[in-house]
Amino acid sequence: MIWPLDKAKASSAATPASARTQRPSPLVRMRRNRKADWARRLVRENTLTCDDLIWPIFVREGANAREPVASLPGVERMSIDMAVESAREAFSLGVPAIALFPYTDPALRDPAGAEALNPDNLVCRALRAIRETCPELGLVTDVALDPYTSHGHDGLLRGEEILNDETVEVLIGQALNQARAGADMIAPSDMMDGRIGAIRRALDDEGFHNVQVLAYAAKYASAFYGPFRDAVGTSKTLVGDKRTYQMDPANGDEALREVALDVEEGADIVMVKPGLPYLDVIWRVKERFGLPTFAYQVSGEYAMIEAAARNGWLDGERAMMESLLAFKRAGADAVLTYYAPRVARLLRAG
Ligand code: PBG
Repeated sequence: MIWPLDKAKASSAATPASARTQRPSPLVRMRRNRKADWARRLVRENTLTCDDLIWPIFVREGANAREPVASLPGVERMSIDMAVESAREAFSLGVPAIALFPYTDPALRDPAGAEALNPDNLVCRALRAIRETCPELGLVTDVALDPYTSHGHDGLLRGEEILNDETVEVLIGQALNQARAGADMIAPSDMMDGRIGAIRRALDDEGFHNVQVLAYAAKYASAFYGPFRDAVGTSKTLVGDKRTYQMDPANGDEALREVALDVEEGADIVMVKPGLPYLDVIWRVKERFGLPTFAYQVSGEYAMIEAAARNGWLDGERAMMESLLAFKRAGADAVLTYYAPRVARLLRAG
């Protein structure tokens, strides 16, 4: 411990008792509450539990296939049968929900993303298969056209423009397709204007009143999505970038407007994405709106931690837990994270 000691007195061999009692001593010692594990546990403000986790998984065609994604070490594209296995395991570890992302056969991708509307597409088949073996697991699906378009954009492209209203029409079809296949929670990640209200209305019209809408409300045009695009096979095909629809990383107030609109349009839950570089946005959204707020620890965030951990540059397990706890402190109610099963296993063990 370091004291603001009086140098002259400290150097004299025999310090008189009167001087010792005058040694400046802090009345408030923050360290008292940190002195032992039991004390730290009692004053802990935030905790991470399995209830905070949603696990994003990548599905592909085939059987008995698990294919690693080079830029996402530890993450695999799984055939549906393997996805069923993994989903069951995650559920038994206490993970409440998974989010499905398809690696669509490149031959099925076209400029209009028509495969998104196919009732037997990969996501729909995966939904039915997982539902059958794991009826209690929450199933979240992504609404956006990028896994299905030949140009890799989330919407329809005319020339260099991403068409908003025409895209929303297709997204409605995609959302209904997923709801019919058994999705519990529809998560539009496309950032078109007006899609939350349009999708909510369409779901209600078809009797899907209980299907939740998780709006990727504040989604930034981020470099941290790189490994995800490898996983769904759009990093090579993407024409240009997504800056005309995803948000400018420089903006915070704008995120509040985005969230306000999605709340007005009926979003049950809002999301901020990416996560760790945008904790300020999570905090502001939670403070302002007080509704369930999720965060996405995106592929690039995961890849950064894993890369350093696999190089022995940091303690991967501790970095994993600390990064996820930070989301809780910032106000997030749940986090989409590729770490979900690992965290669940760790929490269960300890
Ligand atoms: C696609 C979508 C993306 C992510 C989730 N849904 C990528 C993108 O917008 O290009 C990123 C997730 C991640 O990086 O882990 N609409």
